[in-house]
Amino acid sequence: MIKKLVELQEKAKTEIMAVKTMHNLNEVKSLYLGKKSPLQEVLTQMKDLTVEEKKEMGIAINAFKQAVEEFVLVKRDLLQKDLINEKLEKEAIDISLPGVKFKDANYHPLELVTREIEEIFIGMGYNIAVGPEVELDLYNFEMLNLPAGHPAREMQDSFYINPTTLLRTHTSPVQARTMLENKNKPIQIICPGKVYRRDDDDATHSHQFMQVEGLVLGSNVSMADLKGTLEYLLKKMFGGDRVIRFRPSYFPFTEPSVEVDVSCFKCNGKGCALCKQNGWIEILGAGMVHPNVLKMAGYDPEVFQGFAFGIGIERVAMLKYGIDDIRNFYTNDIRFLRQF
Ligand code: PHE
Repeated sequence: MIKKLVELQEKAKTEIMAVKTMHNLNEVKSLYLGKKSPLQEVLTQMKDLTVEEKKEMGIAINAFKQAVEEFVLVKRDLLQKDLINEKLEKEAIDISLPGVKFKDANYHPLELVTREIEEIFIGMGYNIAVGPEVELDLYNFEMLNLPAGHPAREMQDSFYINPTTLLRTHTSPVQARTMLENKNKPIQIICPGKVYRRDDDDATHSHQFMQVEGLVLGSNVSMADLKGTLEYLLKKMFGGDRVIRFRPSYFPFTEPSVEVDVSCFKCNGKGCALCKQNGWIEILGAGMVHPNVLKMAGYDPEVFQGFAFGIGIERVAMLKYGIDDIRNFYTNDIRFLRQF
């Protein structure tokens, strides 16, 4: 009988080790240890044994049961490891695969030009000023020597929020604001920002665009300083060979006022399509700050004088990058924007 048990144990071992799933393992386990197990047969035959033999058999049966339980435990462990390995394999990440590449954004061309201008002026010791886009008539016009009814308002009079408030039509109100803040102290600022004007008569303009304002006040600031400053700026932006010229112009807040041209960087002044055959490109407006403007902001024109200028950023960007339609800046076409 003991021999039979040993055989049975061997058989159980083989079968247990051969199962492939937890479910089968449980089935095989109950096959050997459950009510219908061949063990029962052995047990029924025990009644014919002597006490001594029964004792021996008891020990053997316990050993058998223990052995089968152990096989099951070992096999369960193995099956569990297989399961984990299988899961790991299924969920494995192939680190040799190239990842998804994120596209880097780039700066908008107007931002690029603004930053370039800022860098140049910061290098000359200027501060960057800011002002509101929703502006009082007081700063946008009055304090710039453009009283109510002044004919020069006509070209800019635009987007009113109420009779005394409008979207600023230029960055020049920052001149008045900065002067009021600095009363009787020298000033050296630029102010980039958005401005708004109706554009009913010119397809090359937009109702919203960007400017950089400049203002320098001191006790000994001359038109020569203005010229030197703008020449330095335009050489930095358009190449060291550039020369500039002043043409007389009119702004209510500067006197004298000038339009500033830069020699064409494409044809070097010979005349081409870019400069419309005249060798010069009109680039900004400027002048010496009008005494009335100084007075209104609390500066004594006998002591202080200075210059101001306003640069159109779109215009600079269009020239610099060869962009032929101002609307490209605002339509957010990614094919356009990616080129910068
Ligand atoms: N504010 C003027 C404009 O928008 C430009 C300008 C600024 C001219 C400062 C002179 C001095 O046209």
